[in-house]
Amino acid sequence: MRKPTAIRFEENRPAHIMGHEGRVVIFITDQAKLDSNARRANALSKGAIERAVQSDAFEKLKVGQVFSIAMPHGLKADAIDIVRYTRKPTVAQARKAGASLAKLRGKANMLIALGAARLPQDVAMGLAMRDYTFDPHKTAADAPEGEVVVQCAKPEEAEAAAGALLAVAEGVFMTRDLINEPANVLTTTEFAERLVEMEALGLTVEVLDEEELARLGMRTLLCVGQGSDSPSKVVVMQWNGGAEDTPPLALVGKGVVFDTGGISIKPAGGMEDMTMDMGGAGVVAGTMRALALRGAKANVVGLVGLVENMPSGNATRPGDVITSMKGDTVEVINTDAEGRLVLCDVMWYAQERFEPEAMIDLATLTGAIIVGLGHENAGVFSNNDAFCNAFLTAAGAENEGAWRMPLGDGYDALLKSRIADMKNIGGRAAGSVTAAQFLQRFVKDETPWIHLDIAGVASVKTETALAPVGATGWGVMALNRLVQDAFEGS
Ligand code: BES
Ligand code: MN
Ligand code: ZN
Repeated sequence: MRKPTAIRFEENRPAHIMGHEGRVVIFITDQAKLDSNARRANALSKGAIERAVQSDAFEKLKVGQVFSIAMPHGLKADAIDIVRYTRKPTVAQARKAGASLAKLRGKANMLIALGAARLPQDVAMGLAMRDYTFDPHKTAADAPEGEVVVQCAKPEEAEAAAGALLAVAEGVFMTRDLINEPANVLTTTEFAERLVEMEALGLTVEVLDEEELARLGMRTLLCVGQGSDSPSKVVVMQWNGGAEDTPPLALVGKGVVFDTGGISIKPAGGMEDMTMDMGGAGVVAGTMRALALRGAKANVVGLVGLVENMPSGNATRPGDVITSMKGDTVEVINTDAEGRLVLCDVMWYAQERFEPEAMIDLATLTGAIIVGLGHENAGVFSNNDAFCNAFLTAAGAENEGAWRMPLGDGYDALLKSRIADMKNIGGRAAGSVTAAQFLQRFVKDETPWIHLDIAGVASVKTETALAPVGATGWGVMALNRLVQDAFEGS
């Protein structure tokens, strides 16, 4: 697994600017008053900084954007990167500044001379988050990586704060690696093995095989994977950092390693994108990694249903009726509505076994959520306003888009089946809501529950603030913060 870029923190030393090889970064919080780093760079370059900062181009920059001077006179550096900043940056602005620098850095050394500018840890995190590439399948040899140094006020404090943030970034990287990995590599077995490796971080990890799942009665989950040569699995990851008798938060993820649609097969165009249909499971895995790495003082259990949805002579047919672990029967009208069949059994199992204080499921569940919300926001569905608001607040603080959607009996009625307890689809109208209604039938009334439909945000075709094209890792930061704010230190 690729680790986030290592970043060193040091005292401010404007004298280092002249001799640094690579890129030198200075921060402008006030165009009229350069700080000591900017004054040093300005003196060495015979006024280039002052002219740059007074230019129209610099004036037009937003906070967190960068203006570069290449091959500056008077310095050894290849470039001076001038960050437009502000005296009281938000977390999002500081991370944006870091992300802008990551895009310029390539593999060069970078001296980030922050001076007294605020939020050095978030500048570092933004840089680490955007300094991600997925290249295990590129055969070209790697050039050596340059070094990143942040010079700032109180470097020890910044380093400690950055430590917790970079643990979260490492969780995000795990999620991105899993989501970006093609399905011939990330089979259900390979996925489970990568999760078992996290035992080294202090997690307890169990893998339930098909025999065990059959014994538990998880027939709706098993019916999705039965057309594939890859065996279905459920993996249970426990992090017990909290008090012994507190019930855990349960995180449940959809892990369809590839979704062909099954017998209700998808059209060929774009089908390759369905390698990301394990995105919910990927976010659960990355969140568990982040919690373990930063030693979260909470009890959290992560469960993922790993299956492959394939057509075959053995596959589930449209019209088949399957009995879930809960005991309710499902008429499978469309084998491409498979995510809910996986989740309903894992959610039921999570509640029966762990009696969680609350439960959140994540899934690339519906194309309809992309129609509704695009790639800006995940769909949020919940049976509990207080819990839902706590999540929305956490997501807002981490700048991860999340928008609440409705639930209601009228939508639930669309799942009525002639021959079974329910159908697995509700029709064209409100497709994301009827999918959520299906899941809610497997949520006990006393369990505060949130369903996150991440089909639009898990992987993107245009870069986001902190992620390049491809897997974003959406949700790891929000869930980590929710745990920190609502489940720790109580
Ligand atoms: N995995 C898909 C949803 C999806 C679509 C995720 C696009 C990411 C991008 C899901 O299993 C699916 O196929 N949903 C169907 C549901 C329909 C058959 C009711 C859909 O959205 O078309
Ligand atoms: Mn599908
Ligand atoms: Zn799917």
